[in-house]
Amino acid sequence: MKVRAYCSSANLGVGFDVAAIALDAFYDEVEVSVKPGNGQIITEFHGPYSENIPLEDNTALLSARLLLTMSKVGVDVHIKVWKGIPLGLGLGGSGATAVATVKALSLELGLKIDDMKLALIAGLAEKAAAGSPHYDNVTASLLGGLIIIYSLNPLRALRFYPKGYFVLGIPHVKTPPRKTEVMRVITPKTLPLEMLPPSLGRMAAFVSGLYTNSLELIGQSMTDDIIEPIRALIVPAYEKLKKYTKEAGAFGFTISGAGPSVIALTDEEHLKNVMSAMSKAYNEENIKADIIPAKPASSASPI
Ligand code: HSE
Repeated sequence: MKVRAYCSSANLGVGFDVAAIALDAFYDEVEVSVKPGNGQIITEFHGPYSENIPLEDNTALLSARLLLTMSKVGVDVHIKVWKGIPLGLGLGGSGATAVATVKALSLELGLKIDDMKLALIAGLAEKAAAGSPHYDNVTASLLGGLIIIYSLNPLRALRFYPKGYFVLGIPHVKTPPRKTEVMRVITPKTLPLEMLPPSLGRMAAFVSGLYTNSLELIGQSMTDDIIEPIRALIVPAYEKLKKYTKEAGAFGFTISGAGPSVIALTDEEHLKNVMSAMSKAYNEENIKADIIPAKPASSASPI
C-alpha cells in the first residue's frame, strides 16, 4: 500500500497550533508492507530530501509503532519513504511522513480507523521532530485543504478550500536539528489578558473570510502579535518580505509553521508581482530562496 501526503503550512498567523493548509508544492510517498511477526519496524528513506533522517527516531517509525500498539496488532512492518518535502523549513515535512505512514498502514491492515484518529496518532508522533505533539500540520496533510482544529479531545476540525494562491518563500538556510522544538521553546508561555481579544477577533474574521470566500478578510487576519514577533526575528528578511509582498498586492503574509519559510496569500491578478516582490526582498538581503506558488492540496490518499 502506497499513500501520498502533501506538505503543509501551519498557524497562518492567526491560528497557532490550530490552523494549517495542505499545499500542492511538495509531497511525500510512503509504501508499507507487513508480514507476520512481533512488531519489528524497519524504515528506509529515498528521494530528494532523504538525507540525515535518523532511522531510530523518525515520524514514520514512531507513528507506525503507535498505530500498532493502539490497535493491538502484532506484525512486522517495512516502511519505504520517498521524501519529497524538505525538512526543517516550516513545511510540515515530518508531519506528512507520519500521515502517509499511518494512512498506508491502516489501509494495508484493513483497520477501520477514522481520519481524526489517524491525525491524532500522527500528531503524537510529531514529538520526534517537535519535542511536543501538535496536530495542525498532520490534520491538514491528512484531510487536505485549510483546516482549523476546534477540539483537541476528541480531535475535530473544520475544512475549507480557499481560492487564491499561497506563495511560499523558502530560503536556502541551514536550520538546527530539532528546529521546531527550538522555535516552540522560545514562544511565550503566559500572556497578559489584554492580548486575548485581538486574537479572538482575528480568528472570527479569518473564519468569516473562509466562509464568504473573501481573500481580503482571510489575508487581513493572517497575522499574530504573540508568537510571530519573536519568531520573526530569526526568519531571514521577514520585515522586507512582508513590506514588499503587501505593497505588491498580497492580501496576507506570515511565517510558514515555525519558519524559516514564509507564506503570502494572493490572487491570480497579483501573483506575478507578489512572487517578484519576494524575490526582490531575498535578493537585496543576499539570500538564495525558492519561491513557489501553491494551491490547497487534496487529502492523503492511496496512489
Ligand atoms: N504549530 C506548530 C508551531 C507548527 O508553530 O510550532 C510547527 O510545524
